Amino acid sequence: EWSMERYVELAGEDIRKKVKDRPVLLLISGGVDSTVVGGLLLSALPAEQVHLMYIDTGLMRKGESERVATTLASLGAKNLYLINAEDSFLPALAGVSDPEEKRRIIGDMFISVQEEEIAKRTIENSILAQGTLYTDLIESGKGVGTKAQVIKSHHNVRSPLVEKKRERGEIIEPLSLLYKDEVRALGLALGIDQKIVGRHPFPGPGLGVRILGEVTKEKCDILRDADAIFIQELRLRNLYDKIWQAFCVLLPVRSVGVAGDAREYGYVLALRAIISADGMTADVYPFEMQDILEISSIITNKVHQIGRVVYDISSKPPATIEWE
Ligand code: XMP
Repeated sequence: EWSMERYVELAGEDIRKKVKDRPVLLLISGGVDSTVVGGLLLSALPAEQVHLMYIDTGLMRKGESERVATTLASLGAKNLYLINAEDSFLPALAGVSDPEEKRRIIGDMFISVQEEEIAKRTIENSILAQGTLYTDLIESGKGVGTKAQVIKSHHNVRSPLVEKKRERGEIIEPLSLLYKDEVRALGLALGIDQKIVGRHPFPGPGLGVRILGEVTKEKCDILRDADAIFIQELRLRNLYDKIWQAFCVLLPVRSVGVAGDAREYGYVLALRAIISADGMTADVYPFEMQDILEISSIITNKVHQIGRVVYDISSKPPATIEWE
């Protein structure tokens, strides 16, 4: 009889057979897939053998790094490397407002930080684990069973490290037969909290593509605060699990508002909430008007740099889910 518990056993045997006594390295993004792979590795191998690296780009959500650390520690992680690389990423993004340019800078920086940090720890010889899903393989157009060329790294970049490991057959992808909902079930079977396995997707370039125009530390902090409030309100109202993905976008315009007798120019924040099966198409989440009005006023009351909130009512297509 097939069950997730049985899948954990079989996947564990498979991992041990492929890895033998070599160290395994997993890059943790904070998302569901890499977290579940982490849990699976820790259930299959001695914790000393498992090396988990998380790079905080400065473009992560509020409390993300702490959440990653707590979750993986609770799964038994011993070699957990939390790298704070904000001081590399933010200066590299200064003055850049073109979306593709921002993505490229973030991707390149990610590769260089990753290589530097791996070299420091003499774990170059490790087997690389990746959280590639069945749908990632299908989307690559190569199909499963053939040599999948899709590279699912933190920023969807083809890092030289991943390429080299793939050439040498030193990659394991224990989720490659699973769909997202099965990955969530696997996560639960591994003892990962429902709140973690049920998290909405988050793009590799993080807040870098949710701050339209130039990215600054100040804007990251404003967006982090607003986004945390939005998500918390969705949870409090039992809406989070009904929505496929929700987030805030900070716009590069200021609009006028009143503060006492003065006119003040505040940031404009867009709220996005969509329902979807796989992110390929999306419908706008039809909020009850009262919810969206209350959430808007909570945000402007608590985050004083934001003067105006708008709700994005565009489906995909023609719009994409993200704004950049
Ligand atoms: P779009 O905006 O293309 O997004 O409708 C579809 C889904 O993909 C996520 N997304 C990304 N994920 N790197 C990622 O890892 C990226 O550069 C990226 N861009 C978009 C988006 O959040 C949504 O879930």
